[in-house]
Amino acid sequence: MAENTDEITKNKWRNLTSLPFPIKALFTGYILVIGLGLMMAGAQILLTHGMADGKFGVSVDDIVYSYYGNRSSSKLQSKLNGSMQDKATSQEKAVIFKWIASGAGEHEWQTTINPITQAKCAHCHANITTLPNVTKYEVIKELAEVDMGAETASLTRVSHIHLFGIAFIFFFIGFIFSFAVGFPKWLKGLLILTPYAFLIIDVGAWWLTRIDPGFAWMVIIGGFGYSLASAVMLSTSLYQMWIMPWRGRISSEKACWD
Ligand code: HEC
Repeated sequence: MAENTDEITKNKWRNLTSLPFPIKALFTGYILVIGLGLMMAGAQILLTHGMADGKFGVSVDDIVYSYYGNRSSSKLQSKLNGSMQDKATSQEKAVIFKWIASGAGEHEWQTTINPITQAKCAHCHANITTLPNVTKYEVIKELAEVDMGAETASLTRVSHIHLFGIAFIFFFIGFIFSFAVGFPKWLKGLLILTPYAFLIIDVGAWWLTRIDPGFAWMVIIGGFGYSLASAVMLSTSLYQMWIMPWRGRISSEKACWD
């Protein structure tokens, strides 16, 4: 009798198709929430980095703007040539560009820049708290300085949060997928390792792009790579937990051990 129970328990834990129902429920809930989270992360990237060059959609230029900056120009200047270009007339923009080029002095700001920003920028920038208040001298002066891209302190902070947080997500995605059937062990191991490798490429590329904008494409490849590997593992896991048994295809393969 005891032997029999052992046998059944062992069979249940063989692979995704035969997991006990509560474990399937646990794995499925996790996969659904993580899937939703990945989509939100994608949307957030489009809305922040994606808009960095003033155009919708993530491009190499966006990555360069975000990490390397635009060292031949200031943020104020590139915004006035980009997403803010319709907010002032070309004459007003010329005045602002001249002011930037002449060193963004306070006296000149009082007489020529302040009237423009009060009239053309204040209704958004002085009222929406998430936007820098470009009607204040200290704020606009900083935006008029050469844009050196991401700061070391903020990049360090984002990097460590990213590495710790995402490693946890990949751990459980990989753990669930390790019970999948129909993959040679080497391929399964490779798929489980792939997101971690791309994560290191991605975060490493942020730092490299800060030094040399030529690395921007690596950021995109990194992000794309781990999204793809995760999507393959998540969808395979759902398929094997629900569709395969529903079609009567409960596998007896020992997915994790021999
Ligand atoms: C209709 C609202 C609106 C007006 C008017 C407006 N802006 Fe903006 N501005 C925004 C929004 C929204 C963003 C954030 C999205 C983006 O960066 O494109 C932004 C971003 C910026 C940024 C980048 C800030 C940062 O730290 O990333 C600068 C610089 C800027 N605006 C300058 C100006 C100037 C100068 C004017 C006036 C000539 C102006 N804006 C007028 C809405 C406005």
